[in-house]
Amino acid sequence: MQKSILPEPAPVVDLIEAFRRSKAMFAAVSLGVFDLLEQGPNDLQTLASSLEVNADALERLLDSCVSLGFLKNAQARYSNLPVASSYLVRSSPNTLVGYILYSNAALYPLWGHLEDAVREGTHRWKQTFGTDQPIYDHFFKTDQARRDFVLGMHGFGQISSPPVVAAFDLSRFKRLVDVGGATGHLAAAACARYPSLRAAVFDLPVTIKVVREFIERAGFKDRIELIPGDFFRDPLPEADLYSVGRILHDWSEQKIRRLLGKVYDGLPRGGALLVAERLLDEDKTGPVASLMQSLSMLVCTEGKERTLSEYSALLKDAGFAEIQGYRTGAPLDAVLAVKG
Ligand SMILES: C[S@@+](CC[C@H](N)C(=O)[O-])C[C@H]1O[C@@H](n2cnc3c(N)ncnc32)[C@H](O)[C@@H]1O
Repeated sequence: MQKSILPEPAPVVDLIEAFRRSKAMFAAVSLGVFDLLEQGPNDLQTLASSLEVNADALERLLDSCVSLGFLKNAQARYSNLPVASSYLVRSSPNTLVGYILYSNAALYPLWGHLEDAVREGTHRWKQTFGTDQPIYDHFFKTDQARRDFVLGMHGFGQISSPPVVAAFDLSRFKRLVDVGGATGHLAAAACARYPSLRAAVFDLPVTIKVVREFIERAGFKDRIELIPGDFFRDPLPEADLYSVGRILHDWSEQKIRRLLGKVYDGLPRGGALLVAERLLDEDKTGPVASLMQSLSMLVCTEGKERTLSEYSALLKDAGFAEIQGYRTGAPLDAVLAVKG
């Protein structure tokens, strides 16, 4: 009898363990390991007493962080490596801590019910946290929770917005309104690239309250206005260029159509909408990160990720004539739709 040759088990073994690596990083960030080490190298006992945790358990976590490439251990003193100082420390200008804390506190438990989300086709807020309220009403009850969330969006946004605004020549536009623009990273990137552009961030009043500091830090206080409002209920502020970054993927198709209709009606002829989202490949078999994002949208929103053709169909239905997509290579891609 011929012996069958088994395929390599490595992809399966890797994924059995992948969540452990994520959770180890989430826990170290959440416990404040990297924030503490940013003050200087330290030994296990001092770290354990400062963090008020069990020393033996902390040693395993710290050594795991060494093996994950975040820490160094030299002469029994742990210290941050540059990647940790840049992205895993709260006070770093490039921090990704906000998104990590949001992933740890919300996405990780929500993903725990992925099978039920697939069975029922709906998000898991009620099952996980006992409330039916959508994400923006429920999860961000406090200013701190909102700040952590927008800080998380900001980290990825800062990486993505410069290539998104550079994807098309936007120099003919005079006023950009970033709808649901949160910390204004897209508006700031656009102002940096197009010197005569003025911009506004239009977002919920509760979000506007916590984002002012980001706009001030970006140095465009005089060119970026903050306008509180609800994009489903209120009229949109006037603009010849609107943008929606990671907004369309949050909502049901019906709500997307409502919002796109409103954007279209608000634009003058020749005005445009810039969409920043991850684009799925046309055959929907990649990129992996975008497919994982689409599953994440399943457990936490009404929305999903789409292909360029799917976005184009929605935009054409709203009235837009000329639609172009661009893969930036950054976490978010770009689509420009012009009103004919
Ligand atoms: C996923 S975040 C994206 C933020 C930002 N565009 C970015 O890419 O970083 C969604 C944003 O939409 C805002 N938002 C949600 N519902 C809204 C509504 N009805 N009207 C205005 N803004 C809303 C939230 O406050 C949040 O800032």
